[in-house]
Amino acid sequence: MRRSITTRLVVMFALAALVTFSLIGAALYSVLERELSRHQDDDLNTNLQNIRYSIERVGDPERWTRVQAKMDTLTPADGRVRFWVLGDDPRFHYGKGLEAFERIDQGADGRGTISLPEHGGHSYRTVSARIEPLDQRPAVRLIVGVDVGPFGQTLHAFLSALALLTLSAVALVMLLGYWIARVGLRPLQQLSGEAQALRPNALSQRLQGMRLPVELSDLANAFNGALDRLEAAYQQLEAFNADVAHELRTPLANLIGGTQVALARPRGAAELRDALQSNLEELERLRSIVNDMLFLARADQGEAAVGLDEVVLAQEVEKTIEFFEFVLDESGTTVRIEGEAQARATINVALFRRALSNLLQNAIEHSVPGSRLAVGIARQADAVWVSVSNPGATIAAAHLPRLFDRFYRVDASRHDDGTHRGHGLGLAIVKAVADMHGGAVSAISADGTTTVAFSVPGG
Ligand SMILES: Nc1ncnc2c1ncn2[C@@H]1O[C@H](COP(=O)(O)OP(=O)(O)OP(=O)(O)O)[C@@H](O)[C@H]1O
Ligand SMILES: [Mg+2]
Repeated sequence: MRRSITTRLVVMFALAALVTFSLIGAALYSVLERELSRHQDDDLNTNLQNIRYSIERVGDPERWTRVQAKMDTLTPADGRVRFWVLGDDPRFHYGKGLEAFERIDQGADGRGTISLPEHGGHSYRTVSARIEPLDQRPAVRLIVGVDVGPFGQTLHAFLSALALLTLSAVALVMLLGYWIARVGLRPLQQLSGEAQALRPNALSQRLQGMRLPVELSDLANAFNGALDRLEAAYQQLEAFNADVAHELRTPLANLIGGTQVALARPRGAAELRDALQSNLEELERLRSIVNDMLFLARADQGEAAVGLDEVVLAQEVEKTIEFFEFVLDESGTTVRIEGEAQARATINVALFRRALSNLLQNAIEHSVPGSRLAVGIARQADAVWVSVSNPGATIAAAHLPRLFDRFYRVDASRHDDGTHRGHGLGLAIVKAVADMHGGAVSAISADGTTTVAFSVPGG
């Protein structure tokens, strides 16, 4: 069964009320009991002193009748208080059911309880005192008793009232608790209502946290934070889709256009081969975009680099530069390696070369022929940074953080005039390679020098 907060609160309120009222009731009950007992004891002692004083002064049967009369007067009609006098001489006896007293032990202070059939089975709380002989009267024992019946009735009535009050109070607390829980949980319903109203086509909507209690506004803020990230990811995805479509459109248009032109009229084998050759270039371009995107998609899923080798980084850098020998010679550009030549790193060699190649490619593309490029190797904590610097136009600071975004190009128009054939995925791949190695990327551009770098684990 699903648990409801309201039910739980109501049950907890009820238990708390029950415990509280029971404790208070028990305390009141014991106070009342003690007070009633004290009251009875006072009553008993007063009567005992009173009669004892009279009996002590009486030594003959004639005057004893006066004592008897006094005791008669002091005995109320309802028999609430009673007197008994016992002794060896029956002339100085008083009270009904005297035989019963032979059976009970009155204790040192003469306190006790006695139940007498002669008095309708009533129980009496008693005190007694021994009175010394005088003249004809032998020593007697005076016993005073008060009926405990009313005492018990009072306690009983009190207990019933208490139980009734406790139950009613618990019921009342449960009702109030239900109401409190309903009112208290109303913001939660409002929140879930708002959350239900959220739709993917209105991703910018947020929960209104300000009107909520503190506890829930934290929840709403956390939820809104999740929505922010979702919205950002969603927008990125949408932009990415648009970019992909845009990137694929140009090579496809070229393919179609070229093919249409080739087919427009009969052509010789040489012409057709040229057309096919140019189609092949476009197709390779398409393949490279698709391959790069597949690679980025895998990296996105958090795939880590495998097949790691510990290498001397400077050697790998050198081997990578060798691939560019032809391009470099052609443009008269030179590359030198700077920094810590003996630094070692744990890398997937193929991925590392791919990343470094992309950086070198960019550096060559963005510098004038004959420039001097530099590849730097620098140790930092437990990472090694590899940077490629080239002289060239400074990139505005606003672009720097976005360079590693997919399809991001600082000057998008260059793409269309045919001078630059990049699709803006090179640096995204550098970042993916760094991510796969648990590394990071950085780009700085100042005073006509641009330096783009990434890090891999090592030291
Ligand atoms: N060394 C550099 N100097 C100046 N601008 C650069 C440099 N490296 C990158 N950029 C800028 O960053 C953009 C993104 O670079 P990236 O390598 O990701 O894409 P690309 O070179 O345009 O295309 P691809 O590398 O996919 O062929 C480039 O278009 C360019 O504007
Ligand atoms: Mg590039």
